[in-house]
Amino acid sequence: MPHISIRNLKVSYGAHNVLKDITVDIPDGQITAIIGPSGCGKTTLLKSLNRLIELQEEVKVNGKVLIDGDNVYDPQADILSLRKKVGFLSQKPCPLPMSIYDNIAFGPRIHGVKGKQILEQIEELEKHCPNNEVCPANTRNTARTHKNGEMDLLVECYLRLAGLWDEVKDRLRMPASKLSVGQQQRLALARTLSVKPEVILADEPTSSLDPVSARLIEEQFQMLKQNYTIVLVTHTLRQARRIADHAIFLYLGEMIEQGPASKVLCAPCEAKTCAYISGEIS
Ligand SMILES: Nc1ncnc2c1ncn2[C@@H]1O[C@H](COP(=O)(O)OP(=O)(O)O)[C@@H](O)[C@H]1O
Ligand SMILES: [Mg+2]
Repeated sequence: MPHISIRNLKVSYGAHNVLKDITVDIPDGQITAIIGPSGCGKTTLLKSLNRLIELQEEVKVNGKVLIDGDNVYDPQADILSLRKKVGFLSQKPCPLPMSIYDNIAFGPRIHGVKGKQILEQIEELEKHCPNNEVCPANTRNTARTHKNGEMDLLVECYLRLAGLWDEVKDRLRMPASKLSVGQQQRLALARTLSVKPEVILADEPTSSLDPVSARLIEEQFQMLKQNYTIVLVTHTLRQARRIADHAIFLYLGEMIEQGPASKVLCAPCEAKTCAYISGEIS
């Protein structure tokens, strides 16, 4: 699992300096929450980690983001493999206009994964998730003897990993757009996972969900952190307190405080963090 080190990161849109010299480490195998008032630069920081930020107009980035020691802003860096390694889950789910099944198969297909490679991908998943019912053995045996069996199995594994399988297993060919928003967000998670990322960036992934669906996503994150480095932007302190191990507080583009979530979210050192968690600033 990769460790991310952010060094002197500055981001501006035109003349507007949005992130001001951020230096912080993001531990691997944990959930790091980025918190702070609206407009303080949370999404900008998150999208800087896999260079999605460059899709914005007039954006300028200075400084370094090191993933396992390699600077993602190195001129030689391979952006496609970076974005594959560092997956992104957006605020609102946006399923592809195709079936539930094809939404999951899409990524592996465009990366040319088939046949034996699919089985290898499944075996890797099983190794990483030994305690999860990601891929029951009986399914595995039948999948090997059916046409398209490997892809069927891969789709099943990722739907299980995202906690959606039981709800959709009887209607895999249905358009994904017919799922509830909460289910669509778990589908988006399954799709993100299907291209084998090592880091998951999530930008307020539960903000458009009802509380029950939000909890389901939170539960999946807590399970997934064993095998992925997770960075979560959240605007709800309660969510951060429930699931974050580590926290970063941003205010007007500056990093005010960071550290173990229990400290930053419950007993911070800085006056601004205190003001934020007590609700004085929002
Ligand atoms: N594409 C853009 N062009 C210009 N300004 C932007 C752009 N995206 C965000 N901003 C500005 O940058 C600041 C930080 O935005 P953002 O990172 O989205 O904050 P947050 O996610 O914390 O709400 C805000 O003032 C916002 O208006
Ligand atoms: Mg945002």
